[in-house]
Amino acid sequence: MKRIVSGMRPTGKLHLGNYEGALKNWVKLQDQYQCYFFVADWHALTSDYADTSKIKENTLAMVTDWLAAGLDPNKCVIFAQSLVPQHAELHLIFSTLTPLGWLERVPTYKEMRENITDKDIGNYAFFGYPVLQAADICMYKADYVPVGKDQAAHIELTREIARRFNQFYGDVFPEPQALHTEVLQLTGLDGRKMSKSYNNTIELSDTADSIQAKVRKMITDRTRIKRTDPGHPEDCDVCKMHRLFVPTAVADQYDADCRVANIGCVDRKKALANALIEYLAPITERLNYYRDHQDEVRDILLEGSKKAREEAERIMHDVRGAMKIDW
Ligand code: TRP
Repeated sequence: MKRIVSGMRPTGKLHLGNYEGALKNWVKLQDQYQCYFFVADWHALTSDYADTSKIKENTLAMVTDWLAAGLDPNKCVIFAQSLVPQHAELHLIFSTLTPLGWLERVPTYKEMRENITDKDIGNYAFFGYPVLQAADICMYKADYVPVGKDQAAHIELTREIARRFNQFYGDVFPEPQALHTEVLQLTGLDGRKMSKSYNNTIELSDTADSIQAKVRKMITDRTRIKRTDPGHPEDCDVCKMHRLFVPTAVADQYDADCRVANIGCVDRKKALANALIEYLAPITERLNYYRDHQDEVRDILLEGSKKAREEAERIMHDVRGAMKIDW
């Protein structure tokens, strides 16, 4: 079976955009591939080293959401990067053979240096972020890496590093390929992209009450002032989001009723909230279970990390051998 590796930085609770954009796909992939899914907590350190107080808490919250979304520890390996020190060893080896120019050219690096002003990222480890990512991926000889398009340059760099390693020391690593699945980018409650930093999210852990409250505050068609005014569903975030979570025929009927003012914005908001609540119901149910069984979540993470360590050590054995630094 082909291998998959992917990771997320420990941002804590996940939102519907994270689910639609990545997690839902991971859940599907676990049935078709041998999957390694991990929390990139060392990657978080590269920018958040000054305050590490939330890392473990955020890691557990995120893994809780992974399990709620349907990742199954019997089907995939779930682990934390910091519990597999072999990643650090491979990162060091990769850092020796990565030319500085390759890193200077990574577009995300330049962008981040320009855009991130609230924390210091002028450090050595942040510059090497994609090298650590290459180590994460090659650590398990991954064939595919499911990631968003924003990560394409990192996967390209990973391929170049793997190739360069193989040129020096013989064929050890396959060149992994990015798996960019077509996913919808979810719009947040304020019409911008759904993102934790915009504070416009619906969380997987939101209750029915909080979903209703959040949807109630969403902005609809700005030109529809009175209930009797005809609506324009194509200019309405509520209508557009509703369409994503109900059958097309249902959305079409709501759109038609909106255009002739048969229904008001409040009705559509109620329909959207209900659709979201229903959509999230299976996740909510598992989430309630894992919330009450945090020790189990922790055990799953530790157990998965042990499996990852064993595999990583096997591969490091090959690496050290190929490099003739095995003793
Ligand atoms: N850089 C990725 C992100 O920000 C997270 C990540 C770290 C990752 N290591 C990885 C993703 C290895 C895939 C494979 O989303």
